[in-house]
Amino acid sequence: MPVMRTVDLIAKKRDGGELTRAEIEYLIQGYTDGTIPDYQMSALAMAIYFRGMTPQERADLTMAMVASGDRIDLSAIAGVKVDKHSTGGVGDTTTLVLAPLVASVGVPVAKMSGRGLGHTGGTVDKLESIPGFHVEIDNDEFLELVNRNGLAVVGQSGDLTPADKKLYALRDVTATVESIPLIASSIMSKKIASGADAIVLDVKTGDGAFMKEMQETRELAACMVDIGNRVGRRTIAIISDMSQPLGYAIGNALEVKEAIQTLKGEGPADLYELSLTLGSHMVVLAGKARSETEARGLLEASVKSGQALQKLKVFLAAQGGDASVVDYPDLLPTAAFRMEVPAREEGYVSGIAAERIGTAAMMLGAGRTTKDSEIDLAVGIVLHKKIGDRVAAGESLATIHTNREYADDVINSLYDSFAISSQPVEPPPLIYGVVGG
Ligand code: URA
Ligand code: CA
Repeated sequence: MPVMRTVDLIAKKRDGGELTRAEIEYLIQGYTDGTIPDYQMSALAMAIYFRGMTPQERADLTMAMVASGDRIDLSAIAGVKVDKHSTGGVGDTTTLVLAPLVASVGVPVAKMSGRGLGHTGGTVDKLESIPGFHVEIDNDEFLELVNRNGLAVVGQSGDLTPADKKLYALRDVTATVESIPLIASSIMSKKIASGADAIVLDVKTGDGAFMKEMQETRELAACMVDIGNRVGRRTIAIISDMSQPLGYAIGNALEVKEAIQTLKGEGPADLYELSLTLGSHMVVLAGKARSETEARGLLEASVKSGQALQKLKVFLAAQGGDASVVDYPDLLPTAAFRMEVPAREEGYVSGIAAERIGTAAMMLGAGRTTKDSEIDLAVGIVLHKKIGDRVAAGESLATIHTNREYADDVINSLYDSFAISSQPVEPPPLIYGVVGG
């Protein structure tokens, strides 16, 4: 075989050609080990940005990135390991609800989760607001807990998809993040390296999401589903609304409380519905039900009987957490001050700028501004109104939970986040569609 030259491959993509699997592997290996420099990789990323990638190229890129580092071996866990991935949103508490919920009907959940950065929160941060709970468990213990309890969450460890880490950082500074094939292969490579047999994607659309427009959201969803299915991981995607935060709570301990309420059947309707939808697909992919209707029945029954809540207690206790928070949520960290945001006029809520609310919660200390910043697990925002709700003048739109004595900046930001109309407003749909399956 002739020796490959990176410059020729860049030119091939620049001119709209299709890279072979061997060529993609050469590029990703070379970039990971440092023999291909950043400047060549950035030229390639820009060529991909303009020329796109064929379905086969996307699948090959995904698997080349998987091969660049460690892979989690979940074969010691019996059954089909279904992972859920959300493209990120504000106040998205679904993992905390879903993991015990699907585990309670026999779907093994072996979840590797990260911390949050910016206006979206991470599952690990939320869980760490439970006194004693920790995710620093070794691989053997992780597998053992999943086999015993059906559920465990471990922090990110090992060197998974180093090619993606390097390429994502490069894209960030070369204006090449916004490329659907590059985003799709980046996300899918991480899911596959962490051991998933099947994948349920929650692709968010709207103001608080990574993808703000419906057309590009659908393209991203279709692209990820196609990659998954091509590489032998059954994959489906739900397109869900992120034009306003999910549920009412934004902030770590506040979201844990909301997840507990939801598992008791007393949580916000949107969070419960999205959890049931994603959960039913997970149950079907895991082979624990023949149809989504049957799966949904199992999940609802588990909430009603208290089985799902019991699973949460077992899971928390197994990782050192104080499971009594489930019965006594007031044991979770609470902030020193509460401040209201009273509506200045009556009307109907017509918009809630999700990203801005996420940023407001971050300003209170609920999220990280940089990778190494400390966060305050107690603080955050609890909305009282969602799009379509009627509000009287003076009625509180939201409560701010803060450890600061003054939070006028945040209060003002929240005022600016709510749009109020004098006319009745239809709430947006929660789910826009399903791709694949
Ligand atoms: N999230 C990822 O993990 N990768 C991308 O490329 C974009 C968003
Ligand atoms: Ca929430």
